[in-house]
Amino acid sequence: MANVTFSSPRMKKDLTVYAVAGDTKTLLAVAQANKLPVDFECENGECGSCAVQVSVLSGKTPLGVALTEKEKIVLKLAGKITPQQIADAENNDLPPPWRLACQFIVRNEDVIVQF
Ligand code: FES
Repeated sequence: MANVTFSSPRMKKDLTVYAVAGDTKTLLAVAQANKLPVDFECENGECGSCAVQVSVLSGKTPLGVALTEKEKIVLKLAGKITPQQIADAENNDLPPPWRLACQFIVRNEDVIVQF
């Protein structure tokens, strides 16, 4: 189980939902299942409209970071990730600040999602 907290000026208050780790749901699918207003268009890692800031809650070691190739390209074009952050994600498991909700698979760690 993972606690996923969604936070946005578009919501009256933060909402924490429980996601079952291992069912390979994307963050966007979790948001949609809970009727949260995360933007999206293509749902396929190509448009960048679902970019969200994801933070792993402090005190926990982040799990390995799995950036998809599409995330790297789209986030880089949008200026939301640097080549250094991509290298840090791949080599040092340092999570980058921005992810694509339609590509990010929820795992067994608690995160805060800002959009
Ligand atoms: S909805 Fe288009 S990149 Fe996620």
